[in-house]
Amino acid sequence: MCGIIGILGSHEVSPQLVEALKRLEYRGYDSAGVATVDASGQLNRRRAVGKLVNLSDRLVHEPLPGHAGIGHTRWATHGAATEANAHPHRRGPVAVVHNGIIENFRELRDEVISLGLTPESETDTEIVALMTAWHMDQGNSPVEAARATLARLHGAFALAFLFEGEGNLMIAARKGSPLAVGHGKGEMFIGSDAVALSPFTDRITYLEDGDHAIITREGAEIFNAAGAPANREIQQIDVGATQIDKGGYRHFMAKEIAEQPAVLGDALSHYIKDGRIVLPEAINFADVDRLTLVGCGTAYYAACVARYWFESLAGLPCDLDVASEFRYREPPLSPKSWAMFVSQSGETADTLAALHYARDKVAKTVGVVNVGTSAIARDADIALPTLAGIEVGVASSKAFTCQLAVLAVLALKAAHDRGRLTDAEQRAHLEDLRALPGLLNQTLSVSDECRSLASWLSEAQDVLYLGRGPLYPVALEGALKLKELSYIHAEGYASGELKHGPIALIDRNVPVVVVAPRDALFDKTVSNMQEVMARHGQVLLISDAEGIEKGGHGTRASLTMPSGGGAFAAILYAVPMQYLAYHTAVAKGTDVDQPRNLAKSVTVE
Ligand code: F6R
Repeated sequence: MCGIIGILGSHEVSPQLVEALKRLEYRGYDSAGVATVDASGQLNRRRAVGKLVNLSDRLVHEPLPGHAGIGHTRWATHGAATEANAHPHRRGPVAVVHNGIIENFRELRDEVISLGLTPESETDTEIVALMTAWHMDQGNSPVEAARATLARLHGAFALAFLFEGEGNLMIAARKGSPLAVGHGKGEMFIGSDAVALSPFTDRITYLEDGDHAIITREGAEIFNAAGAPANREIQQIDVGATQIDKGGYRHFMAKEIAEQPAVLGDALSHYIKDGRIVLPEAINFADVDRLTLVGCGTAYYAACVARYWFESLAGLPCDLDVASEFRYREPPLSPKSWAMFVSQSGETADTLAALHYARDKVAKTVGVVNVGTSAIARDADIALPTLAGIEVGVASSKAFTCQLAVLAVLALKAAHDRGRLTDAEQRAHLEDLRALPGLLNQTLSVSDECRSLASWLSEAQDVLYLGRGPLYPVALEGALKLKELSYIHAEGYASGELKHGPIALIDRNVPVVVVAPRDALFDKTVSNMQEVMARHGQVLLISDAEGIEKGGHGTRASLTMPSGGGAFAAILYAVPMQYLAYHTAVAKGTDVDQPRNLAKSVTVE
């Protein structure tokens, strides 16, 4: 969601700004723009709706000279995706780019209108430019004017300012949304994340909440929320870990699906060594009376799967909620309970707010996050990396399976700490987990069959996904993937719930995808499947060889999965969910890596 870049460089910065914005594309956006200060001190900007190629075209016809500049990819919040609403916003000598939401913007808008100023766009960001320009008009320096404006802003935001006549000054500020300062040789940078900055520098300072930075080519002076100078560490980042390329695949998502055996192996090797679980010492579930699991979207579905494991293996009572509900429903939380927040980006505004709600009410907060430098990783008592590597495809794939792997290890740890599993039983479960990368590798071969099935699914208006137990959230994830990637309406249901309403939807035009390994609940799922087929429903059964043999009769199609994975077989079934959605999207010609309206890290609520 929205990407920010800023450069005080030694060459023309427009091409570098666009290059960095390209690296931020994965976050999701619907317009883009850049502003520069040229050698004569003039501030100019170019903006374009749609993909970055439109902005690049614009820059070919209307070049933007200058060695200082800021750039932005915008995901529309206040106001439609139009050029007038695209960033940078400029008023007088001030240009601003912004990620997040200024919550008191209506009040501030009324205030600037009462000062005789007229906003030209519908955005909250323009108000920041207007207020800063007004303060400069009153005789304040750019720094004083930006500070006076920042003091008035409520909400979560990351901001970068550039000023006419100031070719050696950028101001950056962060409250909530992430922002990093990059240190070069005689050059300085700001960016939404290390991925954007990695072509320019590997030395990065992450601003903390409430910080603002006055940046010149000579360096950055950082001030904390109280306005006092703050010493923030310069971190050396591993540029290799920020490489983003498709590795020969047609889409990032295809690459990320195929990477799952390797990254799942990495995650498991990190937490299981010599047949034993290795976790920070503070993790002991013996006295935990309840576990609250929170996330959004796919991360929430990972938490849903994990609930089955924590309850059935560890006997640990669990509460579960989507973060946007949890944060406002004022749930009473026991001081002996733990709360776990699952997030790929670690920046999702609702999940972060849910963590902040819980942190002084529970005994411990745990972040299960992919981005180790994220706000959730920093703010949780314990942060556990999921080690999926950078996920560029907006729709989550490898991040989901790695979340599941880490949650599975935690559930086994809890089961052992609570005396529900002996050493030997725990070891047997760990062996099942360690077998998963190999089984996942075999599972990748379902890609070809999913491609063949895609022409059928791509014709459908609606698709249902059914599962039971831990496979129920996998069915929900399958439906979410199909919706996101192919824009086909899809719903996931607990298969036992079908006859309580959704069965009314069944006819010969509605494909029904059933995920059902041959486990204790298999026969029940097959009965539900029969109910569908009795009403001419067209079933795709996804099961292991034994399950297909026992339940495959009368289905329209089946996909054979490897058997294995024990209690954690659900992890394998994520793969056909991903490939069905992926190939259906390719068949329909939609934008697989950047589906419409979606953003990778959702930093607004
Ligand atoms: C779906 C997807 C989203 C995210 C959700 C939470 O494919 O990617 O549903 O799972 O926006 O994001 P994180 O995990 O970054 O908190």
